[in-house]
Amino acid sequence: MQILEKIKNKSVVVGIVGMGYVGLPLGLAFAAKKIKVLGFDLDERKVKLLSKGETYIKHISEKKIKEAVKSGKLKATTDFSRLPEVDAIIICVPTPLDEHREPDMSYVVNTAKMIAKYLRKGQLVTLESTTYPGTTDEILQPLFENATSAGKNKFKVGKDFYLAFSPEREDPNNPDYSTVTIPKVIGGVTPKCLEIASALYDQVIVKTVPVSSTRAAESSKLLENIFRSINIALVNELKMVFDRMNIDIWEVIAAASTKPFGYKAFYPGPGLGGHCIPIDPFYLTWKAREFEINTKFIELAGEINTYQPYYVVEKSMETLNKFKKALNGSKVLILGAAYKKDIDDMRESPSLKLIEIYREKGATVDYSDPLITILPKTRKYNYHMKSIKLTKEKLKSYDLVVLSTDHTDFDYKFIAENSKLIIDSRNAFENRGIKSKNIFKA
Ligand SMILES: NC(=O)c1ccc[n+]([C@@H]2O[C@H](COP(=O)([O-])OP(=O)(O)OC[C@H]3O[C@@H](n4cnc5c(N)ncnc54)[C@H](O)[C@@H]3O)[C@@H](O)[C@H]2O)c1
Repeated sequence: MQILEKIKNKSVVVGIVGMGYVGLPLGLAFAAKKIKVLGFDLDERKVKLLSKGETYIKHISEKKIKEAVKSGKLKATTDFSRLPEVDAIIICVPTPLDEHREPDMSYVVNTAKMIAKYLRKGQLVTLESTTYPGTTDEILQPLFENATSAGKNKFKVGKDFYLAFSPEREDPNNPDYSTVTIPKVIGGVTPKCLEIASALYDQVIVKTVPVSSTRAAESSKLLENIFRSINIALVNELKMVFDRMNIDIWEVIAAASTKPFGYKAFYPGPGLGGHCIPIDPFYLTWKAREFEINTKFIELAGEINTYQPYYVVEKSMETLNKFKKALNGSKVLILGAAYKKDIDDMRESPSLKLIEIYREKGATVDYSDPLITILPKTRKYNYHMKSIKLTKEKLKSYDLVVLSTDHTDFDYKFIAENSKLIIDSRNAFENRGIKSKNIFKA
């Protein structure tokens, strides 16, 4: 039976490579529509937990995983030789930057090589990982056309296998939107590839948005994230300018937000975090160099956003100075390790940078995060730190408490009442109606 027919009668089997923040919810969405999913991951721990119906991402409910596993619709494996069992392969592996801030394509390339080993006729492969325009047809297509399994008669895209790019737009823990309710852009290498990929996603996603090429689809994702990065940089810059003029940026944003057209609110903070906004824009910067063009806006936004944790530390020093204290030798508590509120993901979190800078300035640093009890090792940092439980005595023992992530679960009133000095980088206290002489914004 052809893949299109299998999609239509729901007997299609979907393989998802990379069962992380993107792959897992996508797998659950297919399973919920009674479509069989086989998740592939190198991480044995994730595969074991999934097979037992357990979650490893806080905001993804165990109940949904249990249901999917119990119904036999969701299975997981580390064995890539099972790739021929599936009809469609969706790639959701990481696309980080390397230490020189250049695209690290190793996860995508390794995955593609693995697929090329097992690719069988009639399969659809979709890449979802955020990347620069050209990845799908420059890297994936030749690897698959020369797939080992094709033997001497090379595979032809659009005929022997189908290839598409469809960017993920996941916003973890957003109560208003989930994988299935966010429209999905799709570009195929050939019209047939687009038709098949759209048919597959139409089974689970509220609306698919076809575009003319994989490059247009790759670029649309970059535009979305560059738009955010630049607008956040703009308010971060205005925060610093207005602060010098003794004007509160938060009040200004609230006022501007009453304009019913032509304005969209973005908010300043201690710096960018997460897998997307601090990283993705530089995928375009890198690719643009090949065309002898500089992405000046992107670089400028990156510069301003990267400076934000330093700004928070400068404001901390200024504030301590008002009370005749130095940061050197002070005890600092950082509230929140996650890169945004109410999630347990601390990838690229500005809190990690804050810890580094405060320590460099001679402070002793602790952190408290109800969702991240120990700081896991990251590419850059390996802090052996455990989250501090917030008690009256503990809070009082710090010279400075720095709000970095505005988790809902923090008891803001209690923190305000029991801390000596607070630096608030998210306006979290005032947003909850808490004003106090010991709270300073940064
Ligand atoms: N997290 C988000 O909110 C989000 C939103 C939109 C787009 N994206 C993009 O989606 C992609 C995936 O991001 P994520 O947040 O899900 O990452 P993640 O780290 O949560 O998950 C990736 C998974 O891939 C696995 N993996 C790595 N290499 C592998 C390989 N060769 N074979 C099989 N599995 C492998 C890892 O073990 C991990 O489980 C990235 O390109 C990211 O930019 C993420």
